[in-house]
Amino acid sequence: MGIWMWIMWMAMAKVTVGLAILLRNSCKLKRLRKRRPQLPRGNLGWPLIGETFEFVSYAYSPRPETFMDKRRLLYGKVFKSHLFGSPTIVSTDADVSRFVLQSDAKTFVPSYPKSLTELMGKSSILLINGSLQRRVHGLVGAFFKSPQLKSQITGDMQRYVASSMKNWEDDQIIYVQDEAKLIVFQILVKGLIGLKPSKEMNFLKLQFQEFIAGLMSLPIKLPGSRLYRSLKAKKRMAMLIKEIIQEKRKRKDRHAAALDAVDVLIKDDSEQLTDELISDNMIDLMIPAEDSVPLLITLAVKYLSECPLALRELEEENMQFKTHKSTLGESLQWSDYMSLSFTQNVITETLRMGNIISGIMRKAVRDVEIKGHFIPKGWCVFTYFRSIHLDDQLYKDAYKFNPWRWKEKDMINTSSFTPFGGGQRLCPGLDLARLEASIFLHHLVTNFTWVAEEDHIVNFPTVRMKRRLPIRVTRKR
Ligand code: HEM
Repeated sequence: MGIWMWIMWMAMAKVTVGLAILLRNSCKLKRLRKRRPQLPRGNLGWPLIGETFEFVSYAYSPRPETFMDKRRLLYGKVFKSHLFGSPTIVSTDADVSRFVLQSDAKTFVPSYPKSLTELMGKSSILLINGSLQRRVHGLVGAFFKSPQLKSQITGDMQRYVASSMKNWEDDQIIYVQDEAKLIVFQILVKGLIGLKPSKEMNFLKLQFQEFIAGLMSLPIKLPGSRLYRSLKAKKRMAMLIKEIIQEKRKRKDRHAAALDAVDVLIKDDSEQLTDELISDNMIDLMIPAEDSVPLLITLAVKYLSECPLALRELEEENMQFKTHKSTLGESLQWSDYMSLSFTQNVITETLRMGNIISGIMRKAVRDVEIKGHFIPKGWCVFTYFRSIHLDDQLYKDAYKFNPWRWKEKDMINTSSFTPFGGGQRLCPGLDLARLEASIFLHHLVTNFTWVAEEDHIVNFPTVRMKRRLPIRVTRKR
């Protein structure tokens, strides 16, 4: 009896231990399963179109981020959706977006709508990857940062702004967006291909407007379609630019200082930088010249018109500096404009609120895990800067134009402030954009007072003012 009891006890003990091990293993398995990165929560919407219509209808509204806000409440800062024909992970989380921007082409590659890739061409810096992208970025980036180009741009900008403002009469309506586009386009085109105001410049501007109109069009390439007309305009521009490149190649002097971006690129000895690649990229670089920088200027004027306190402080800073320089008998240099701290804060705040580029699309070339979120190979990631820039937890009263916030906290170099992107593709033109905006604002506030007429921001497909921001100006006496 005793021995049987002992055997039974032993058997029960074994079963208990076995059960315990089984239980422990299954918990372990559950834990492991739990730890495996998960696809973010969210809704893929309708077959094929996904949630694109809802996204676009919010994009046209004054608050496009509402699309994101609704989903953030339901699923968190990173969620899945289906936009513009692709399953997409939307990131409104600063750390996740930073990881995506910092990644190289082994993990993420740029992804743009079909009409855009068609128009920009395969060799556009916005689309190329790896060593070629680094090479072109390095060359143009170093040139854009050079004090010599900044001096040239400052001189040109001062002249063009002065000659344009000379004709403004009291009580006249000025369309800030048009004025800024006209001035900035001529200046940046000179910095890119060395062309001065001329018949060719006017031709280029006309063709460029035809070209840019197709950037967000339907990807239909039939004669007469928007995309077709834009491609034709690009061809005509490319012909003119290639002639300029060939002319420069003939005159090529290794030791002469580069006066424009083409000079820099033709000095490169690698076979990769063909005339075609250079001309395509020069056309693409005209986009910030015609669009982003003028918009930065226009939005700054809009926000200042609505914030008299900020306008007064900006005026004081610029007036003081102007008087100081003129008593010394000196003109303002590029470094002077960049050192005007309140002016720079106004520009920073305009970049935060304006969100000229609301976000960046990338495509995963392998399975990726970021902060526990699983991003499958082939899916897109939309790093949506706008939601981060307008997040109340990061920026107190985020919808209030408050340039003074930048006095206290230096967030310019953090992942919560990315108007110029980040990582290897960080915008190489960011200093030029700030410089040109500072020069325009300096001349405007030191020479004029104004009253802005009613207007509002349109956010889609690109940011712009509905009425081109009309202001009624009065010259200061
Ligand atoms: C307010 C003005 C501007 C804004 C908001 C802006 C914004 C941006 C952003 C967000 C990117 C990152 C794109 C990506 O990661 O795929 C970028 C890239 C770029 N930007 Fe700008 N930009 C501005 C002005 C300029 C100017 C003035 C230039 C030069 C003429 C310029 C040249 C470039 C180039 C070449 C790239 C591509 C860099 C690369 O992919 O390696 N940008 N810009």
